[in-house]
Amino acid sequence: MKTVELDFVGKVAVVTGAASGMGLLASKDLVAAGAKVMMCDVAAGSLEREASAISASHETTAANGEVVQMPCDIRSWEDAQGASAFALDRFGRIDLLFCFAGGYEARMCNSDVPFYEQPREVLDWGIDVNLRGAVYMARSCMPAMVAQGGGVICLLGSVSGFEGNGKGAMYGAAKSALFNFTKSLAICGAPHGVRAFCVSPGPVLTRPGMAGMKTLLGRAAEPSEIVDFILYLASGKGAFATGANYVLDGGRLCVKP
Ligand SMILES: NC(=O)c1ccc[n+]([C@@H]2O[C@H](COP(=O)([O-])OP(=O)(O)OC[C@H]3O[C@@H](n4cnc5c(N)ncnc54)[C@H](O)[C@@H]3O)[C@@H](O)[C@H]2O)c1
Repeated sequence: MKTVELDFVGKVAVVTGAASGMGLLASKDLVAAGAKVMMCDVAAGSLEREASAISASHETTAANGEVVQMPCDIRSWEDAQGASAFALDRFGRIDLLFCFAGGYEARMCNSDVPFYEQPREVLDWGIDVNLRGAVYMARSCMPAMVAQGGGVICLLGSVSGFEGNGKGAMYGAAKSALFNFTKSLAICGAPHGVRAFCVSPGPVLTRPGMAGMKTLLGRAAEPSEIVDFILYLASGKGAFATGANYVLDGGRLCVKP
């Protein structure tokens, strides 16, 4: 099924973690399907480059899509509030929020030691980006959705939310917390037509290192295999999806350690 068949024409989407990986791919697909996309990321340089490239692409012009970008650190309440304010100022509404920004603190902070030796900065990074950031962004964008009478919030979990990890303890704990947070969003959103769901991938080839992680299928996912599923759930075709965490892991959780 092509993204264009998922009816994103004219929809306004806020995407965090949009400068790379799955957030970037989702931004491209949404714009190519005629959406107006606000790309947010803390990596201002690559965000600007990627947004300009999408803006200039043939797919964007052909679909009448639109893209704007805003450097944003989702750990900051002010930045998160600023993101929804910018989107509302520019487009007048927010239909979709995709919280792709996240990461494994051991890798992102170059910390190759177990939890009990990690400095506070590493622990804070893991919790703040993976949990607090998603909370701030949902808190920022949801009032517009409630006022409009509809919207969709997509959070990114991980199989690590089930597994735990000695060097990524905060990553696992935060992703696990998102499963529960999704339910709360769904409960308070449902009376207003706002859906919330979480997608928890196994290994995804947004970087080569993920190829080595075991799955039943013997491989990691292509980013498009995850993003296509997310966009399906976010579209009208996924209208019955709310409150749940969807594991898409090639059978990783069936593999014995
Ligand atoms: N790649 C995988 O194997 C995998 C597996 C399971 C879950 N996930 C989850 O999927 C999501 C996307 O993964 P990916 O591999 O595409 O990621 P990625 O590392 O390619 O991109 C993450 C983006 O988030 C941005 N970011 C980091 N901190 C930020 C902050 N404070 N504010 C705003 N932006 C920030 C980074 O700059 C980066 O552009 C993440 O939440 C990740 O935890 C990924």
